[in-house]
Amino acid sequence: MASKAKSNGADRVAIVSGLRTPFLKQGSGFKSMTTLELSATVVNELIHRTGVDPKEITGCVFGQVMPSLDYINLAREVVIRTVLDESVTVAHSVTQACVTSVQALTTAIQAIAYGEHDAMITGGADSMDDLPLGVSRKLTVALMGMQKAKTAMDRVRLLSTVSPGDLVPPTPGYSMEPSTGLTMGQHCEMMVKDWGISRAWQDEIAHQSHSKAAKAWAEGFYDDLVMPVVAPPYKEAFRQDNIVRNDSKLEDYAKLRPVFDKKHGTITAANASPLTDGAAAILVMRESKARALGLEPMGYLRSWAYTAVDPMWQLLIAPAFGIPKALAKAGLTLKDIDLVEMHEAFAAQVACTLEALRSRKFCEEHLGLSEPLGELDPERFNVNGGSVAIGHPFGATGARMVMQGLKELKRRQKQFALMTICAGGAMGVAAVLEVA
Ligand SMILES: CC(C)(COP(=O)(O)OP(=O)(O)OC[C@H]1O[C@@H](n2cnc3c(N)ncnc32)[C@H](O)[C@@H]1OP(=O)(O)O)[C@@H](O)C(=O)NCCC(=O)NCCS
Repeated sequence: MASKAKSNGADRVAIVSGLRTPFLKQGSGFKSMTTLELSATVVNELIHRTGVDPKEITGCVFGQVMPSLDYINLAREVVIRTVLDESVTVAHSVTQACVTSVQALTTAIQAIAYGEHDAMITGGADSMDDLPLGVSRKLTVALMGMQKAKTAMDRVRLLSTVSPGDLVPPTPGYSMEPSTGLTMGQHCEMMVKDWGISRAWQDEIAHQSHSKAAKAWAEGFYDDLVMPVVAPPYKEAFRQDNIVRNDSKLEDYAKLRPVFDKKHGTITAANASPLTDGAAAILVMRESKARALGLEPMGYLRSWAYTAVDPMWQLLIAPAFGIPKALAKAGLTLKDIDLVEMHEAFAAQVACTLEALRSRKFCEEHLGLSEPLGELDPERFNVNGGSVAIGHPFGATGARMVMQGLKELKRRQKQFALMTICAGGAMGVAAVLEVA
């Protein structure tokens, strides 16, 4: 078994610092800002706060889930628009649905571990107000054809192939699974039925998420993790997440109608993660380099495991497969875990994962374990709120979770946190965070 010691003497790759913008509901304060602007804003401020000479940073891995039609490489555009040196040799963009900023982070960690870089910026962002609205396939074919059409008659003929319905932009694919034709919410409703999850339990998870996030904000937990952002036309900076409810009342949740299965469903606006705008960034460095620069690392990603299942089966269950793998790689068991940060795509998906981990049948048949993995202690679960309350700008969520997990470990003087995120395409990640 691997040592639980914080360091075995090797020069580890350290998470030095992280920062995010407030997470704001789609259509609110960040309506005028693009994903790129949010990304550049947070990267500039993170570098400024750490006091690191930007020339020390030689790589940038950044991600967004909803692609832009205005550029092809977010990471490179971030480099060009920030204090980062334009000679940064590695600036590439990643996307892995809701796991995006964890993928950015592990890519950077591997590049540093491999000796390619000493210091890199990673992170992710998404603005649901900066969506790449497209045109239907039929209209695309007609418009492309018109560019080559020789006569007015040719153009009229092409236009006549388009019906009024073809003029409506297709819904951006943030929620629809292309391989199944169902939305993520519909898939989650299928899982609710498989696992027999009650609406009351989902509402309780969502209420807890809001209550804990509101308490954390009130106590100042987020003050140094979240930067103020001035977004035109507003003069005042946005300083806090605006989805968190300070007055969450459990009885109000039951009043809402289901959204994704209007007749028999259980998922509502209150127990689903909302569409959100925001960005988050992390500075990652070879530990010796960080210490030489006088920086105190926050911690490490001790292990991680990406997993994937059949989308038609249980779209959001993949992280359950990653947990035993990440724990084994870290040389730990669930008993060693002091905190859990679980992404809440839907309160229902959290409930299904908790059920899976305590199910002997699931753990034996699917995880190859001889015993159920066990219960996750509610007292140590998403203690500062989760994505239902804080919001979920897809590309930024992983970085948010890494930062708040490490900060909370330090606050409690504990060592290990388990982090899990489910993602579109039936993928997921589980990782072990370790405090420095
Ligand atoms: C679920 C979803 C459709 C709801 O969107 P919406 O209708 O814009 O939601 P709103 O914020 O307007 O909330 C609807 C109502 O619920 C109420 N509500 C929301 N959260 C509440 C809470 N915690 N307590 C009480 N009421 C709440 C709102 O006040 C609002 O009430 P009103 O109609 O009287 O004003 C949208 O958030 C969504 O698509 N989420 C899932 C996104 C997704 O699939 N992501 C991928 C997962 S990773």
